Amino acid sequence: MAEDDLDEVMAIEINSFKSPWSRVSFLNDLRRSDAISLVGDCDHHVIAYLVAWQVKDEVHIGNLAVHSDWRRRGLAQDMIRQLFIHRSYLRWAWLEVRKSNKTARRLYSKLGFKEISVRKNYYEAEHEDAIVMAKDLLQD
Ligand SMILES: CC(C)(COP(=O)(O)OP(=O)(O)OC[C@H]1O[C@@H](n2cnc3c(N)ncnc32)[C@H](O)[C@@H]1OP(=O)(O)O)[C@@H](O)C(=O)NCCC(=O)NCCS
Repeated sequence: MAEDDLDEVMAIEINSFKSPWSRVSFLNDLRRSDAISLVGDCDHHVIAYLVAWQVKDEVHIGNLAVHSDWRRRGLAQDMIRQLFIHRSYLRWAWLEVRKSNKTARRLYSKLGFKEISVRKNYYEAEHEDAIVMAKDLLQD
């Protein structure tokens, strides 16, 4: 992801989430050395993106979305695999997902993430719990 991608990233973000990240959040992550911001593109247009943060051998997926016209074609799973493939030093991946987001929970389960705990009322604005999911990258 580059700064020039942010108009298209924000359009997908606003279309995908009840509480979208701000442009500044994406920009800050582009400047953080521990953040990984990836885009998937088609004909030079952003159609998917992923933001993650790494600490030693752990990576935390903080954001992932696919343009609504491009869903269910394997893009999200490809982006997650790309995140792991080029970083063989990683051992653990984890994330939080809304309890109601059955689509994303199914995606992560398919990729070998396990539901390990619940963070009560994590999404305070909607009084919604988060499911914490983790994957042992050595168990692939
Ligand atoms: C969740 C999201 C990123 C999935 O992206 P995607 O590119 O459509 O997902 P993929 O095509 O890679 O799907 C991989 C697997 O996820 C599951 N899945 C994806 N979309 C699904 C749907 N609509 N219904 C049921 N399962 C679904 C399936 O197991 C699928 O594998 P299959 O197609 O072999 O059955 C996309 O729906 C999205 O952007 N949603 C809004 C933002 C969001 O919720 N992000 C996640 C935040 S935690």
